[in-house]
Amino acid sequence: MLDLSNLPPNFIWGSATAAYQIEGAVTEDGRGPSIWDTFSHLPGMVDNGDTGDVACDHYHRWPQDVALMRRLNLEAYRFSVAWPRVVPAGTGPVNPAGLDFYDRLVDGLLEAGIRPFVTLYHWDLPQALQDAGGWPDRATAEAFADYAAVVAGRLGDRVADWNTVNEPLCVCWIGHLEGRMAPGERHLTRAVHASHHVLLGHGLVNQAIRASAQLPPAVGIVLNLSPTEPGTDRPEDVAAARRADGHINRWWLDPLYGRGYPADMLDTYQVDPPVRDGDLELIAAPTEFLGINYYFRQVIVDDPDGHAPFIRQIPVPGSVETAMPWEVYAKGLEDILVSVAQTYQPRSILVTENGSAWADTVEPTGEIHDKERVDYLEQHLEAVRDAVVRGAPVDGYFAWSLLDNFEWAYGYDKRFGLVRVDYDTQERTIKASGRRYAELIRAHRAAHPVTHDAVI
Ligand code: IFM
Repeated sequence: MLDLSNLPPNFIWGSATAAYQIEGAVTEDGRGPSIWDTFSHLPGMVDNGDTGDVACDHYHRWPQDVALMRRLNLEAYRFSVAWPRVVPAGTGPVNPAGLDFYDRLVDGLLEAGIRPFVTLYHWDLPQALQDAGGWPDRATAEAFADYAAVVAGRLGDRVADWNTVNEPLCVCWIGHLEGRMAPGERHLTRAVHASHHVLLGHGLVNQAIRASAQLPPAVGIVLNLSPTEPGTDRPEDVAAARRADGHINRWWLDPLYGRGYPADMLDTYQVDPPVRDGDLELIAAPTEFLGINYYFRQVIVDDPDGHAPFIRQIPVPGSVETAMPWEVYAKGLEDILVSVAQTYQPRSILVTENGSAWADTVEPTGEIHDKERVDYLEQHLEAVRDAVVRGAPVDGYFAWSLLDNFEWAYGYDKRFGLVRVDYDTQERTIKASGRRYAELIRAHRAAHPVTHDAVI
């Protein structure tokens, strides 16, 4: 029997999405092109040649999607604003129609009793900014703050909860070092420079929101973190696992919590981030919460022939793997929550994403009995509970994802949704996992009938 009674009474129950993954309507109402429009249209970059052109057509179907959120008993919804809808060229004129879309969505959520959590950057950089240099260029961080001020100025009378950047690791390491995501670069110096400007962007946006929003804001960055372990007890692999921890976790957490960039990783990269006076203070300015996205642990071996940081993730023999294929390892969530809480002492932690992709089967009745996703959800919620029992200040959980959607370089084949999307008809069907999540939320709320708007 799943017992979640140790979760805080005011625990926030939500689900998450991102603009490019669900909205579609990429040329409508004045939206400009983003780096993901460009990247997904390049031959060979995305499985099956899929693009986000239509995605889940959420741009037109959002009222139906908000109704689905109600059926799932969601109390909170984390979505991202597409920068190229609001400021199509990245800097300069604001597109009122783009802002209006998010304005309507926020009103619709509030009418449904759902608390909006806005993410300002979930990877869809306006292409014009990429053409001018992208994240390796300091001007992009400054443009990010200007755009954030516009959004906070418009939505900040109703939205209190703000995520600045989603997963800097993916933006910088996967997008600029490994080339598997937009903008598809493979360049260590540009990747390290991008990492500093993404963190600087977070700091500038933290400031901009506080200056522009009417409601007292709760601001946090969202990091995808993984515990790292050596694949063997060879000293080289033990050292590689430590470097992996630096690359994946400490490179972001250390500067955000006032420790500056980790010296061992500066040594490993042999590239200095372009830090100017005052940058580190801005990056480390206090926030109300830290968002943690968790999917898997990383078991690591040394890879001297690869690129910095010379690490390679290896599969874990005998493990259960999702369709990605990522190891199912719920204990990793408990461990990372506890270790971050102990080392960095954030005021509050939200699990801003966690979920799993499986090859769902639609029964002749139309139902989806996604038992693996139900098990994954329950195991990871137990892990959150165990972390709370061990003292981690975890105040909410956002299931990834509300809908099946465009899974970046994997296209539409990898389905993470609590709700199935039939991409031919755009029909939505709540899966067994969605029903189970709704039941868990209902049960927790029934046991703790409190107002839940004062947690963070
Ligand atoms: O789909 C992504 C999301 O955009 C960012 N975090 C991980 C998810 C699953 O890969």
